[in-house]
Amino acid sequence: MEKSKVLVVGGTGYIGRRMVRASLAQGHRTFVLTRLEKVGMDIDKLQLLLSFKAQGALLVEASMDDHRSLVAAVKQVDVVVSAMGGPHLLQQLKLVEAIKEAGNIQRFLPSEFGMDPARMGHALAPGRVTFDDKMVIRKVIEEANIPHTYVSANCFAAYFAANLSQIGTLLPPKEKVHVYGDGNAKVIFVDEDDVGTYVIKSIDDPRSLNKTIYIRPPGNIFSQNELIAKWEKLSGKVLDKIPIPSDEFLASMEGADHTYQIVVGHVYHIFYEGCLTNFEIADDEEASLLYPEVQYTLMDKYMERYL
Ligand SMILES: NC(=O)c1ccc[n+]([C@@H]2O[C@H](COP(=O)([O-])OP(=O)(O)OC[C@H]3O[C@@H](n4cnc5c(N)ncnc54)[C@H](OP(=O)(O)O)[C@@H]3O)[C@@H](O)[C@H]2O)c1
Repeated sequence: MEKSKVLVVGGTGYIGRRMVRASLAQGHRTFVLTRLEKVGMDIDKLQLLLSFKAQGALLVEASMDDHRSLVAAVKQVDVVVSAMGGPHLLQQLKLVEAIKEAGNIQRFLPSEFGMDPARMGHALAPGRVTFDDKMVIRKVIEEANIPHTYVSANCFAAYFAANLSQIGTLLPPKEKVHVYGDGNAKVIFVDEDDVGTYVIKSIDDPRSLNKTIYIRPPGNIFSQNELIAKWEKLSGKVLDKIPIPSDEFLASMEGADHTYQIVVGHVYHIFYEGCLTNFEIADDEEASLLYPEVQYTLMDKYMERYL
């Protein structure tokens, strides 16, 4: 079977660039939506786009504000993968309009790649806006009968593992570490490159059609306490553990800036509530079971680069 042609929207973004690389690596003809007006003087974005081109990707000029350009971009491919960033999720409504008009798309993957928004109806404000926006996009996709796959990628390792899930830093703490509640809720950590690999594996797969794929690599499911212990073993240094009860943690949102409040909400659901692992996958699919050939990266290995 000929591999599908893929358009990545948001291809220079943090996770989007991994979708582009995985698509090329898996032998798909890969198109990257290129918003020339946004390249401007952004030298890194331009260099990244040129590196994609050098690896065989086709850069397609289009804009969310130019419907015709979007339809023309979508018509060149079979699959659209969107990795648009959190504040811009509703811009995907324009992408859905283009996909509807083009009428040729065999699979659309909207920008998700985190907690399953369908399970976050109870989420705290203001962080819940991400889940609400993702559900708005799901609704229009399903109303238009667009073949789709949703991917729940759980915790990106660089945001949640390397820093031992501490807020406001991306580096491992040196002396003390905040522990959320009893630190025992099970969490799922995923190497971002593996997210790209699993996502692209799923796009031509009939088993993932109109389903949610959860990325739950079994070797990367563990608690914050276990994460801290892994880092202590790697670094050879014992950290002071400072437990934060849930009421104290939630109270820290009061008067804090908007971004901090969003992060606290997400951390609360993941580490106090255990929202990534407190349910069984029923009618949907799990990525490491679908694609056992993928040698995903274990967090012990991932964190070695931070030593
Ligand atoms: N699971 C986790 O731990 C985790 C962590 C972070 C994010 N996420 C999720 O991953 C997804 C992507 O997030 P990210 O952090 O990778 O995003 P990002 O790096 O902030 O941005 C991704 C891309 O969005 C595109 N974009 C923004 N405005 C646009 C517009 N008006 N039209 C077209 N494209 C636009 C840009 O692409 P171009 O400039 O290339 O056009 C940008 O590079 C989100 O759904 C987010 O919720 C999950």
